[in-house]
Amino acid sequence: MNVPVVFHWSVSGHLGEELLVEEEWIEGVTLRALMYEAPHKVVLNALKWSVQLATTLSRLHDAYGFIHHDVKPENVIIDSFEDAVLIDFDSARPLAAVVRKVSAAKADADRIGERTGIQGTRDYAPPEAKLFPGSCDAAVDLYSFGRMFLEIAALEPHSFSPAFYDVMRRCTRIESTSRIESAAGLREALTNLIK
Ligand SMILES: Nc1ncnc2c1ncn2[C@@H]1O[C@H](COP(=O)(O)OP(=O)(O)O)[C@@H](O)[C@H]1O
Ligand SMILES: [Mg+2]
Repeated sequence: MNVPVVFHWSVSGHLGEELLVEEEWIEGVTLRALMYEAPHKVVLNALKWSVQLATTLSRLHDAYGFIHHDVKPENVIIDSFEDAVLIDFDSARPLAAVVRKVSAAKADADRIGERTGIQGTRDYAPPEAKLFPGSCDAAVDLYSFGRMFLEIAALEPHSFSPAFYDVMRRCTRIESTSRIESAAGLREALTNLIK
């Protein structure tokens, strides 16, 4: 289980979007801290953690209908089992389809990103998050994911296969519609690298 348990969430149709997320506390260290303190360990575990986080994103997108919108090493905890857990859902928001289900009449006004401007952390945010925050979709998380793992690969560039770089490049294409099709597809591509 790599998605922190969401105990309560609500979207108010009266006061705009109101979202309360309670996250499980994960004992461990951030991936950012490990990248400084134990880079070789990060490199050795990178493929496993990439599959775990792609699984998390695919559940978040497809089962929960949310985008995280701030995927970066500071927001990943490596727990005591050496599993990667995504945290910090402060920037998360429902995908447009979910907003429409909640209140079809308010759908246009509520389109993701319109009220909040730039979300996420700039270095990991794709061009569309900076230029067109209102039109962001699940491809935002795929871009940040790819940036994060390219940064990890740069710790020991020769330890990663060309196929690994290929997957991450498919995540980080400038044009969001050219990126890998989904987090589920990303998970599958990375799982195939382990076999
Ligand atoms: N659910 C959690 N489990 C474990 N550590 C957490 C959790 N939430 C936050 N932290 C720790 O607190 C730091 C800051 O929290 P975060 O939710 O990322 O807030 P923000 O980035 O908005 O300041 C994280 O980098 C992490 O070290
Ligand atoms: Mg954070």
